[in-house]
Amino acid sequence: MTKTSRGTFVTFEGGEGAGKSTQLGLLAARLKTHGIGVVETREPNGPIRNLLVQGDRNWAPLAETLLHFAARAEHLAETILPSLGEGSWVLCDRFADSTMAYQGYAQELGRPTVEKLYRMVAGRLKPDLTLVMDMPVGVGLDRSLRRHVNHETRYELMGRQFHETVRAAFLEIAAREPQRCVVIDANRPVETVHEAIWATVKERLKVG
Ligand code: TMP
Repeated sequence: MTKTSRGTFVTFEGGEGAGKSTQLGLLAARLKTHGIGVVETREPNGPIRNLLVQGDRNWAPLAETLLHFAARAEHLAETILPSLGEGSWVLCDRFADSTMAYQGYAQELGRPTVEKLYRMVAGRLKPDLTLVMDMPVGVGLDRSLRRHVNHETRYELMGRQFHETVRAAFLEIAAREPQRCVVIDANRPVETVHEAIWATVKERLKVG
């Protein structure tokens, strides 16, 4: 596999409540036991996050997408690229596949616009591995809404059909890029999912 830079870039993607953050933390801990330097991060982050995940504002899809890419441009410049440059592993909870699934597909902005913005913001950078955490929409949404972190429910409240489209979009993205993406059945006990992820990381990225 061609590496994007000195470090290794791994993204976690998937619908609401699929256990991405938990699994990211477990993978980070395991990598550290192998002496690997790890940076854990997430998107959207920074001050733009609240505009997107709280409240019930109905942004125009293009405006919403630009906000995600604005946050991403900052995140790449401040965290992702410097960390990769130093040789760290960067584990990122959501990245541009979320924009494709949520804005490109579910909010119907379309694949070409999202691809164009991606090239503008990220250039040729691609994750070395993307773990697509898949689980039935009802199960994930229930979990996510029960958590209610800081009232970050704007996307959860977009309805069942929206989230079915998001799920199908992630599976389509994974099918289009099998060399980068691996679908993980996330509807299993935490430890089982972690072992599946670890097996994938060992096979694809040659660690352990
Ligand atoms: P989180 O709950 O996983 O932190 O993600 C915040 C929400 O933002 C989640 O509902 C998915 C959504 N999102 C997008 O719609 N587009 C994006 O590009 C990203 C990164 C997240």
